[in-house]
Amino acid sequence: MGSGMFDLSGKTAVVTGGNGGIGLGIALGLAGAGANVVVAARDEDKTAAAVSRIETIGVGALGVRTDVADEASVANMVERTVERFGGVDVLVNNAGVSVRKPPQDYALEEWERVIDINLNGLFLCCRTVYAGMAAHGGGKIINIGSMTSIFGSDWVAPYSASKGGVVQLTKSLAVAWAKDNIQVNAILPGWIHTDLTAVIRTDNRPRYDFIEARIPHGRWGEPDEMAGTAVFLAAPASDYVTGVSIPVDGGYSVF
Ligand SMILES: NC(=O)c1ccc[n+]([C@@H]2O[C@H](COP(=O)([O-])OP(=O)(O)OC[C@H]3O[C@@H](n4cnc5c(N)ncnc54)[C@H](OP(=O)(O)O)[C@@H]3O)[C@@H](O)[C@H]2O)c1
Repeated sequence: MGSGMFDLSGKTAVVTGGNGGIGLGIALGLAGAGANVVVAARDEDKTAAAVSRIETIGVGALGVRTDVADEASVANMVERTVERFGGVDVLVNNAGVSVRKPPQDYALEEWERVIDINLNGLFLCCRTVYAGMAAHGGGKIINIGSMTSIFGSDWVAPYSASKGGVVQLTKSLAVAWAKDNIQVNAILPGWIHTDLTAVIRTDNRPRYDFIEARIPHGRWGEPDEMAGTAVFLAAPASDYVTGVSIPVDGGYSVF
């Protein structure tokens, strides 16, 4: 395998929610390893800015307005990707949302919205790329879980349920699609500075500080710190790795 172990030249990676935060950090990392990148998210201005940044690395980049919870939108995104780049070699299921409140206070619509995007949307993206990946001799799927894939939570119950589901779905797809040479793994980010978590620092400082004090590394993480593990899971280096969930968390999950 040699020097090609982490080389993604000529590969095409789709990153859902790749226009900001962890998704953009991963998209830039995959581009740095040589992959063409498709950014699939809803906000077209953010996506255009992300595509420009990725292009400066010297790879191909495409933005496709996508709602991962919408079957037709996901189908369109994959069609556009195939048109432009010929197929999907790597799918990063990163799109995610949260609604924070005590479990008893969720309206059913709030519960469903979180599950729809974080779990159902992830399933739709996996299902939609499967046939092309299998026909091309294999591929890599990287699902983004969370610390709440492992731990219970008092303030994000539907998010935790969706992220627990992501880990179990990762295992099922890994088992089912191993024969197709598709490796399916997950990254479980710790506590990372992004738009999703910014409000914790500004509006809930005691919770922010409590979390920080509990991280053995001594600080929250940054989006670009997820990229190395994503490149590993997208590259030939991980060809015999499937069905696992790797925490990238400064030690939070082992303390
Ligand atoms: N930050 C953390 O500490 C942390 C920890 C563990 C796990 N995570 C996970 O990491 C992932 C990225 O989160 P982040 O922290 O980077 O937050 P973020 O900056 O808010 O990013 C979320 C991304 O998801 C996209 N998105 C949301 N709904 C979508 C939909 N229906 N269809 C397509 N794209 C959608 C957003 O883009 P548009 O709004 O343009 O669609 C955005 O790019 C999420 O799955 C999150 O659960 C984050």
